[in-house]
Amino acid sequence: MNTIDSSARRLAVVTGASSGIGQELALECARHGYDLLIAADRPQDDTAAACRELGVQVQTLQADLATSIGVDALIAELRGRPVDALLANAGHGLGHAFLDQEFESVRHVIDTNVTGTLDLIQRVGRSMRERNSGKILITGSIAGLMPGTFQAVYNGTKAFIDSFAYALRNELKDTEVSVTVLMPGPTDTEFFRRAELTDTKVGAGKKQPPQEVAKTGFEAMEDGESAVVAGWKNKVQALLANVTPAEVLAEQHRKTAEPGGAQDS
Ligand SMILES: NC(=O)c1ccc[n+]([C@@H]2O[C@H](COP(=O)([O-])OP(=O)(O)OC[C@H]3O[C@@H](n4cnc5c(N)ncnc54)[C@H](OP(=O)(O)O)[C@@H]3O)[C@@H](O)[C@H]2O)c1
Repeated sequence: MNTIDSSARRLAVVTGASSGIGQELALECARHGYDLLIAADRPQDDTAAACRELGVQVQTLQADLATSIGVDALIAELRGRPVDALLANAGHGLGHAFLDQEFESVRHVIDTNVTGTLDLIQRVGRSMRERNSGKILITGSIAGLMPGTFQAVYNGTKAFIDSFAYALRNELKDTEVSVTVLMPGPTDTEFFRRAELTDTKVGAGKKQPPQEVAKTGFEAMEDGESAVVAGWKNKVQALLANVTPAEVLAEQHRKTAEPGGAQDS
């Protein structure tokens, strides 16, 4: 594993960079001249190699960011180097009915999407506030705008993240630290397979390419925007979700995330 030398280049930390949106976020950072520390549960050799080809230094960390040990390892890997951009993107879903899920799996979704994400943001965010400089991009989801029948816990974690990001942004409004929440809709990544949602309507349906989603998020972060929904269809869905009763949204979500629902589409 190579280490990042202190240099004039800015440093970005991207979590969940082994695949999907995080991999593309890391590439966006590299294209814009950020050195990188990328972290995920699995090896990220492909991401690291592709970013290095763009001429930046890349350090990789394999850690479970649902745990304090994983977050400790990431902070230790920084060796005190200031973080210019934190892209807190690691997360995963969990399909099927809540009462049929293993609680260990439920806990891992919450610990990854919420607890570990907040632990990392707090530790890196404190030093950004101290230096009065930094950008934070958090991957939320339009799923956070609707009750997630057959993906109830996941949608709950994203509702937390979407809300939290706006609040943290406001707390930092008198500083030069910006907080942006990226809200993707269905995106073509490993997400649906890993959440056991491939036999659902949403799992089998059309999705946005992760490159597009990452570009949208990266640009919003660089511009210091508060929130961005990726894709016009998702923008419409987000607007409608704000004016639709929760009970109706829960019933609509049943239709898209019900196990076996792909056969009816
Ligand atoms: N795909 C969608 O439709 C969609 C829509 C809205 C929001 N999102 C959000 O977008 C983010 C990225 O997901 P994706 O769609 O790109 O899916 P993905 O291809 O499965 O990527 C998820 C990334 O998060 C990492 N990760 C998950 N749990 C982790 C843990 N406990 N510790 C360390 N790394 C962990 C994964 O690393 P490992 O492979 O090493 O586990 C992987 O790099 C997630 O926060 C997801 O909730 C996705």
